Amino acid sequence: MNVLLIGSGGREHALAWKITQSSLLDELYIAPGNPGMERHGRCVALDIHDHDALRAFLLEKRIGIVVVGPEAPLVEGLHDRIAADPELKKVTVIGPKASGARLEGSKDFAKEFMFRHNIPTAAHRSFGKEEVGLAIEHLEKVPPPFVIKADGLAAGKGVVITSDRKEAMEVVRGMLGGSRLGPAGQRVVIEEFLEGREVSAFLITDGRSFKMLPAAKDYKRIGDQDQGPNTGGMGAVSPVPFADKDFMQKVHDRIAAPTIRGLSTEGIPFQGFLFMGLMNVKGDPYVIEYNVRLGDPEAQAILPRLRSDLLDLFEGIATDTLSECHVDVDDRTTATVVLASEGYPGKYRTGFPIGGSELLRNALLFHSGTTKDGEELRTNGGRVLSVTCFGKDLEQAVVNAYTNVQLIDFKGKYHRTDIGHDLARKPNARAPQQV
Ligand code: AMP
Ligand code: GLY
Repeated sequence: MNVLLIGSGGREHALAWKITQSSLLDELYIAPGNPGMERHGRCVALDIHDHDALRAFLLEKRIGIVVVGPEAPLVEGLHDRIAADPELKKVTVIGPKASGARLEGSKDFAKEFMFRHNIPTAAHRSFGKEEVGLAIEHLEKVPPPFVIKADGLAAGKGVVITSDRKEAMEVVRGMLGGSRLGPAGQRVVIEEFLEGREVSAFLITDGRSFKMLPAAKDYKRIGDQDQGPNTGGMGAVSPVPFADKDFMQKVHDRIAAPTIRGLSTEGIPFQGFLFMGLMNVKGDPYVIEYNVRLGDPEAQAILPRLRSDLLDLFEGIATDTLSECHVDVDDRTTATVVLASEGYPGKYRTGFPIGGSELLRNALLFHSGTTKDGEELRTNGGRVLSVTCFGKDLEQAVVNAYTNVQLIDFKGKYHRTDIGHDLARKPNARAPQQV
């Protein structure tokens, strides 16, 4: 089987790494890919927005499966375009059509969907651009902290949480007025603040049946102890001790199953991955957000734990036999640490040579923001690399990951030093001291 993978980050590198282990794979193409993925497949400069070019490529390379890493092409209707093209009837897309991608592309749609299907989530109200007055009145009545979310895709900048009522009102005025985030902010969701611990849960589905995948904890803030601004994610661990068997059963029964049933009863086709961003509130799961893809860096932590052949699961989606597939998971723990450029998620410099990757032992190195200058690897983004290691337990996985992280060297290298520490049982499971 020939596969086209779309994307260029660490998540897609992990997908490429996993796909190449499949006995079902003939050729893997990646558009556009990154230098780390070159040894897994052929990186191609294909403009997926140019439908004629995409069709010609899919036909010429006899692509059977298109795996879409990021959400934007899905929200923009890439799957719909492929499905509507009579010449591409045999191509299976992993990732939903635009109607299903609204679970991520519109917070308002996602909240209404959860409400219709009795899926636990924070209470909310949403307001359009003509309703600034109503939104302000609402903020006068509800208790802090205030959680304000732009309806549309906002590249991680769409959520503001503040206890300052005045600031909350300013944010709402800015979003609805269009000066903050543009069209993405012209509808806002204001929701109840949920107190608890966050966990990312994942499933794969053909729209009728689904299989749970391993869960992970993401570390979103730039600084240790969750200080500083939000990022795409600075590290991950899988499994998550506080998302135990009992909790994951509740996730299955109260969230995953009614979500897939709800999509199906509403006639919304959905195939691919579903990422359920959850809050564990006193042992009960609540949905914070849906994403219609794997997480980054969660993918780098969960895919190594997946023993099953990923293409076999994709084939199950293509042939409507996912219910017969088995998902086998490695019991061991993975820890992933992201190496970023100093300054990220604000301004940062790029172009610095990266050394030491050949020294890594028992580690997986996934590329995100890298480029090649001749044979030399250089930094080329905010999140540059991620290192994943296994351990027999969380403590060992964390120590192994940090031991390898120390071996990589580039100017301005920054990483959190506390990934997994909040979950460790033994207080001495700390990273080796930085030199
Ligand atoms: P999102 O972009 O929806 O993932 O939101 C960004 C972050 O805001 C989440 O990872 C949570 O940490 C936090 N968050 C979102 N919604 C809530 C909520 N209702 N209560 C508490 N924290 C929230
Ligand atoms: N790590 C969170 C995300 O991928 O959205």
